Amino acid sequence: MSINIPRGTQDILPGEVEKWQQIEKKARELCEKYQYNEIRTPIFEHTELFSRGVGDTTDIVQKEMYTFTDKGDRSLTLRPEGTASTVRAFVEKKMFGYANQPVKLYYMGPMFRYERPQAGRFRQFVQFGIEALGSNDPAIDAEVISLAMNLYKEMGLKKLKLIINSLGDKDSRTAHREALVNHFKPQIGEFCTDCQNRLEKNPLRILDCKQDRNHELMESAPSILDYLNDYSQTYFEKLQQYLTLLNIPFVIDPNLVRGLDYYNHTAFEIMSDAEGFGAITTLCGGGRYNGLAEEIGGPETPGIGFALSIERFLAALEAEGIQLDTTEGIDCYLVSLGDAAKDYTVELLQQLRMAGYSAERDYLDRKVKAQFKAADRLKAKFVAVLGEDELKNNKINVKNMSTGEQIEIDIDSLLQYFEEVQK
Ligand code: HAM
Repeated sequence: MSINIPRGTQDILPGEVEKWQQIEKKARELCEKYQYNEIRTPIFEHTELFSRGVGDTTDIVQKEMYTFTDKGDRSLTLRPEGTASTVRAFVEKKMFGYANQPVKLYYMGPMFRYERPQAGRFRQFVQFGIEALGSNDPAIDAEVISLAMNLYKEMGLKKLKLIINSLGDKDSRTAHREALVNHFKPQIGEFCTDCQNRLEKNPLRILDCKQDRNHELMESAPSILDYLNDYSQTYFEKLQQYLTLLNIPFVIDPNLVRGLDYYNHTAFEIMSDAEGFGAITTLCGGGRYNGLAEEIGGPETPGIGFALSIERFLAALEAEGIQLDTTEGIDCYLVSLGDAAKDYTVELLQQLRMAGYSAERDYLDRKVKAQFKAADRLKAKFVAVLGEDELKNNKINVKNMSTGEQIEIDIDSLLQYFEEVQK
């Protein structure tokens, strides 16, 4: 019996992996420009971190976590997202004491959610995310959004839609929560059992319910925007002002609540507007989470961030017909003829590689023609041919594959020759 890959996971093979690397490279470059530094946290954490951080009433915690008990009887969970871990590390490593504030971090790595797999939805997926901790300035909310938008734009995406909302501060949320309970309570029996439980625990979640989304009470539900107090209102207006200054178009959607509990004030999602993208159009989600650090035992610290998955990024590129060039050719392929020449290429290959060139040779004892074919497949820029006669005369034949030009040079001057043609 053969063993297959688990459902909802992927093998990313050569030919495809280069696309991932390009996105990852661009993300790292942007983080450098925006001054976000990489943090690497464990793949698993204490389950409590997510139940407290992400929130007990969320789908992620209730239905989607890969939780297991280790041999020491501890409950551990494969991380479903990166914010809780980042904030845990911030608190645990006392980064609030750093001279440089706010602390700006980014991460890239696999996350795990037991979801129903479909296009754009995996059980293991790779998130790139950033978190800025320690600032209450709406300008940093705009910065976080602009980094995500710029990453997509620099990779060539055009059909993007940014939606924003404010979830207000604690006071605004308390007032809104009360209004939601009053709104849904009389007819809660018509909602799914999840929503019935949500009514008292977290009525905001009802707005995010996929099952009841068409219920008449959804549309008429009280909008958080009508319950924002002065501080929250001003904060939201400032954010909009900064986004406008940065030339980032946005749409306000008062129903955007996000699927995690830690948000307040700014919430946003970036969607793909590309035709044929499929049912799941959200590419990136984020928002502000003042209070999360306290929730996991740290000092009061404001924070904002986003995460996006590389899987959906690639799907959006495909939907817009954007091809990432994955086939950079190698610098040199060494073709050899005869045993002595073959032996010689072992050393020559090493010299080329150590001098900084990408180089390859034949390992299948192929005929010259087949070796040239292999060089073609690797898109070699140069093919250097070493036969018995050449070797005797200390010569090597170098063919420039783009011009077809061929010259014979001293073997010892091969590296020098490459250095010159590079100039
Ligand atoms: P999230 O909305 O749960 O937020 O996920 C963010 C992004 O991760 C989504 O927009 C999507 O691109 C990707 N994603 C989520 N689930 C899957 C999946 N099953 N398959 C493929 N891609 C997926 C968070 O995770 C928050 N931690 C974001 C954040 C950071 N908020 C503040 N800071």
